[in-house]
Amino acid sequence: MTGPLIAGFDAPVHVLVTGASRGIGLALVKALLRRDGVARVHALARGADACDALAALVDAHGGRLQRHAMDLTNDDHLDGLADAVRAHGDALHLVLNAAGVLHADGLRPEKSLATLTRASLQRSFALNAFAPVLLARALLPRLPRDAPAVFASLSARVGSIGDNRLGGWYAYRAAKSAQNQLLHTWAIELRRTHPRATCVLLHPGTVDTGLSAPFQANVPPAKLFTAAYAADALLAVVATRTPADSGGFFAWDGSAIPW
Ligand SMILES: NC(=O)c1ccc[n+]([C@@H]2O[C@H](COP(=O)([O-])OP(=O)(O)OC[C@H]3O[C@@H](n4cnc5c(N)ncnc54)[C@H](OP(=O)(O)O)[C@@H]3O)[C@@H](O)[C@H]2O)c1
Repeated sequence: MTGPLIAGFDAPVHVLVTGASRGIGLALVKALLRRDGVARVHALARGADACDALAALVDAHGGRLQRHAMDLTNDDHLDGLADAVRAHGDALHLVLNAAGVLHADGLRPEKSLATLTRASLQRSFALNAFAPVLLARALLPRLPRDAPAVFASLSARVGSIGDNRLGGWYAYRAAKSAQNQLLHTWAIELRRTHPRATCVLLHPGTVDTGLSAPFQANVPPAKLFTAAYAADALLAVVATRTPADSGGFFAWDGSAIPW
């Protein structure tokens, strides 16, 4: 992909990617580092320092890649993030929030109401709903006011209430819906405080990562994207968003998704 990463902005871009240790986030980091227009990528994940792929990218790209081993559900880590970015003197022109959880130890998407627990709701909401908007709050001081900036957060089509015909996956669906509302609300405020900035929610398609691995059986091969393909598609969508799109929810192909 060529052309500017952010519409109307040709200067070197400083980017922060969360969920950077695997899956779509790692593919975004790789795609960004291949682009000349990217000055620096800040890569955040709890396991950022233990990730061999990120270590190899540091070997190849040196200071263009900065790792941040942080947990987005930890307030102290979020408080330290803006300082860690500022330590490199960077304003952030692009934030790509690709951290998310569908299943983990003791966490499974629910097939029926009977299996829904308070604990699963809290775990899913902590990362899929609360973390994106608290990340936005933490990074607000690093967003430029005198240049375009994009904050793009990965949601999921299953977070669309209008599109929900299958049911199930209560906690994940609801947490993504809540993320959509929280960032849509911030986008309205952002229009006043940072009129050149854009905040969007993105659905990456069904992507072959650890997150989707247990649920791929019924996905036709042509509809199961590689992480690299999804990353390129998402960057193409980001590159064509403008403040007029701010607060919107878009799929990997740029089409709008109903709330
Ligand atoms: N894959 C799909 O088909 C699909 C479809 C729709 C939407 N999405 C969304 O796309 C996003 C990326 O999904 P993916 O498939 O790439 O997932 P993934 O492969 O499971 O990667 C998740 C990333 O999030 C990080 N992470 C998890 N908990 C964290 C925490 N508490 N603090 C900071 N980072 C944390 C993980 O790193 P550490 O464990 O090192 O922290 C990892 O880098 C998610 O929001 C997901 O909901 C994915």
